[in-house]
Amino acid sequence: MFVFHIYINFVDNLKQKTEEIHTMNILNSHIESFYNRPNLYNEIINRLKEMDVDLSNVRRKDIAGVDEFHVRGAQVSQELAEIANIKNAKVLDIGCGIGGPCRMLADEFGCNTIGIDLSEEYVATANLLSKLVGLEHVSKFVQGDALNLPFPDSTFDVVWTQHVQMNVRDKLKFYSEVERVLNDKGVFIYYEVFKKENIDVRYPMPWADDGKISFLEPSSSMNSIFENLGLVKEQSMDQTESGIKILEKSLNRIPKDKLPRLGLNILMGVSTREKMTNLLNGLKEGKIYLESGIYKRKNI
Ligand SMILES: C[S@@+](CC[C@H](N)C(=O)[O-])C[C@H]1O[C@@H](n2cnc3c(N)ncnc32)[C@H](O)[C@@H]1O
Repeated sequence: MFVFHIYINFVDNLKQKTEEIHTMNILNSHIESFYNRPNLYNEIINRLKEMDVDLSNVRRKDIAGVDEFHVRGAQVSQELAEIANIKNAKVLDIGCGIGGPCRMLADEFGCNTIGIDLSEEYVATANLLSKLVGLEHVSKFVQGDALNLPFPDSTFDVVWTQHVQMNVRDKLKFYSEVERVLNDKGVFIYYEVFKKENIDVRYPMPWADDGKISFLEPSSSMNSIFENLGLVKEQSMDQTESGIKILEKSLNRIPKDKLPRLGLNILMGVSTREKMTNLLNGLKEGKIYLESGIYKRKNI
């Protein structure tokens, strides 16, 4: 009888685990197909040709319009790296997109960077772009899931993530993986979109066409998880006002029927204007907010 109970429990657990994995795989494939832009690298190359950029000498600034997929682009990444003083660090960028932040950290802060992203197309594009601008030895990219990082414990000095956790349903697993791969003196740097409690936003947003792949939470939820994991917030900054300013400026600058030749519209597609407008309105109405910050291990 006792053995039979153990067997039934084992089968139930196995069934539950299999269902969880199945649900996660479905979610990941929705996220991947939302971001998927077939032929992305060639598209960027074609735009550079149209702009008369010498393809034998492409520099980071030539691709700056497209390579950082978050509000305020490289500017905010540079500010965060300065504040956290992360010179020469070994960095993991989770949800790295097409790799602009890694290239910036490698080029300007002497970091050795690895980016990981669910999207195969983004990862392939990221590696090719790094090669194009001569930074392939210090910025490498792998395809993978933030919830199951393919790195040993305590590997990185810095774990970095920007505009990613909105797509992550299992926040506990996400932040536990961050904590696991950080070394003893490591820091976690984030720049994210959060929402006020119990508020709905209008879609499409730059990270989702609807609520199916969007899991917005207040930053206080992240903070509670980190406190339990033994990390403390060293500082945080509300980036909402600066975000509103730049979004208003960009939307005003783009004529109604014309999008930039090499801008984030390449990643956001035909609904770029609608996504940016919904993001701007959500920020202005106080439903969502942009926040950056740094976490360290307790007693460090
Ligand atoms: C808005 S983009 C931001 C890209 C990059 N962080 C940047 O700022 O340029 C969000 C990225 O998160 C990635 N992502 C979402 N969920 C993920 C997961 N579970 N694991 C790895 N990457 C994920 C998406 O594929 C996408 O590239």
